[in-house]
Amino acid sequence: MPQILPGSLYDYPKYYDLVFGSDWKAEFDFLLDVFDRYTSGRTMRVFEPACGTGRLLFRLGRLKLDVLGLDLNAKAIGFCNQRLRKYGLPESAFVGDMTDFRLPKKVDVAFNMINSFRHLTTTRQASEHIRCMGQAIRKGGVYVLGLHLTPTKTEPVDEESWVARRGHLQVNSRLWTLDRDMKRRRELFGMTYDIFTPSGHWQLYNEIEFRTYTVPQFQKLIRDEGSFAIHAVHDFAYDIEEDVELDEYAEDIVFILRRK
Ligand SMILES: C[S@@+](CC[C@H](N)C(=O)[O-])C[C@H]1O[C@@H](n2cnc3c(N)ncnc32)[C@H](O)[C@@H]1O
Repeated sequence: MPQILPGSLYDYPKYYDLVFGSDWKAEFDFLLDVFDRYTSGRTMRVFEPACGTGRLLFRLGRLKLDVLGLDLNAKAIGFCNQRLRKYGLPESAFVGDMTDFRLPKKVDVAFNMINSFRHLTTTRQASEHIRCMGQAIRKGGVYVLGLHLTPTKTEPVDEESWVARRGHLQVNSRLWTLDRDMKRRRELFGMTYDIFTPSGHWQLYNEIEFRTYTVPQFQKLIRDEGSFAIHAVHDFAYDIEEDVELDEYAEDIVFILRRK
């Protein structure tokens, strides 16, 4: 039997970074393509709201871009800043709420790749976030926002699992739907990390609430808030040459929101 770990999975940045950090390359290359294709002028300053461990930020920093990150979780920010320091970069990640922040200087591009936006469970929070992002990004800059939409013509994917290893550490993670209430726009997921080292097996279980979005619901949010236009649409294949249709089947979507 595993020993049970307390707290939130975001309180364990080492495990988070191992599970999600291994998938960085496609997202990273896609972001570089976005800088070339969709941003007017040069991209020099980039920002990640809900940056977590900053698995993409430090790599962008190593390309001599100015990087900034914000996250609610102080442990994730500590991990992120430690890694920025390790690479000789400024410790530019800070604790904050993505629904209520102001950056000292505008950025050219911001990105939020894997559903963090759906942690905002009310229309008001989502709209406040988009408003803050409108203040944070310069005109002609873009916000790259990746999220799982709820398809209305097919059944959404209900379970995902990953295995990640580094040295003697292995983390198996599983995410599955516990409940979906499309009326209240609420999806509840169970998530486990099973952590194996030569000295033992630990388990972390969390329930995560996400807000649901159909295509029209997301379009309305952006339209009503008014700072951005949906400029292009891609998916989690991260292929800049492939625009995808925003139809009733749309599920793993990356929006390119252009600051008006
Ligand atoms: C799925 S992780 C994503 C981390 C990172 N963006 C990445 O791609 O690896 C979600 C992150 O959202 C953060 N988060 C949740 N609600 C937040 C809020 N209101 N403001 C800032 N960060 C938040 C969590 O602390 C967590 O680090």
